[in-house]
Amino acid sequence: MQNKKRSLTGDRPTGRLHIGHYFGSLQNRVKMQEDDSIERFVMIADVQALTDNFNNPQKVRDNVYQVLLDYLSVGIDPEKTTIFLQSMIPELAELTVYYSNLVTLARLERNPTVKTEIAQKRELFGESVTYGFLGYPVSQAADITAFEGELVPVGEDQLPLIEQCREIVRKFNSIYGETLKEPKAVLSSNKRIKGLDGNEKMGKSLGNAIYLSDSEEEITKKVMGALTDPGRIRKDDLGNPDVCMVAYYHELFSKDEIKTVCEECRAGKRGCVDCKKQLAKNIIEELRPIREKRKYYEERPELLEKILKDGTKKAQEIAKETMRKVKESMKLNYFEE
Ligand code: TRP
Repeated sequence: MQNKKRSLTGDRPTGRLHIGHYFGSLQNRVKMQEDDSIERFVMIADVQALTDNFNNPQKVRDNVYQVLLDYLSVGIDPEKTTIFLQSMIPELAELTVYYSNLVTLARLERNPTVKTEIAQKRELFGESVTYGFLGYPVSQAADITAFEGELVPVGEDQLPLIEQCREIVRKFNSIYGETLKEPKAVLSSNKRIKGLDGNEKMGKSLGNAIYLSDSEEEITKKVMGALTDPGRIRKDDLGNPDVCMVAYYHELFSKDEIKTVCEECRAGKRGCVDCKKQLAKNIIEELRPIREKRKYYEERPELLEKILKDGTKKAQEIAKETMRKVKESMKLNYFEE
């Protein structure tokens, strides 16, 4: 047990998870469960969600359960992966305070991920960003180090946050003595999935996503509205699947048929409506086990509560132990028995 490596990752509960998350990170997390040399933790980052949703606590609360359902429905198994809730680990807030001395404002302002996000959140922040949002990389460093998470499976957009965490760890260790472990990002090999509208990114705010929890009707409706080759007006026009989102999704969901789909499109032999219906059917089939598992858990709210409570309890014990070491290194170990 002792020489196992720990992995830690998480999501902000600001909305339900979609197939972009599924191909991008969730499948990887499920696959990692086969590796016995790793002790896995997945955190529902509700405190971090509040940094840009402080004015909407109900949204965050509702989505804690939605994200938990998403995890369980794709096969993140609470027996193999500890799922826990950030806000119930007060040590994370405590560590954040100590780490905040080890990072400058200028360094936070230079963080490319934070910079991009601030630019996207003008409406919320106006001309001046909150202290909490600018500082969330510090809190994320607390998340990772509290669990001695040596491995952090994330998407590319999170790399600047892991780098910032590594810097904090080095600074901490150089001032207070070797205490914390430096984490490493584990990049998921899967590519980012484009939206139904052809946008480079699938996102809840963009309205171009298929959610893991979407009903059959919702999936069909969304696929029927997907972007196809704009140059193709009539069924017998020759199509170009390279600029068609339906072809793009066939590639992901219709492995066996993809060649004929593209050939018939190029030859003007397959209409877009037919093609979309086929795609919707394939997506519905692929996501069926996920929807069924979700339903199982939705009908068992006590089980959901228990999974989150048990996971959080386990996480609390580990964070306490790290906190003890940190306080000892910082000469803050008062009143110890
Ligand atoms: N920033 C991550 C996201 O937006 C969520 C997160 C919070 C996280 N704490 C973490 C990811 C620690 C990895 C490790 O998705």
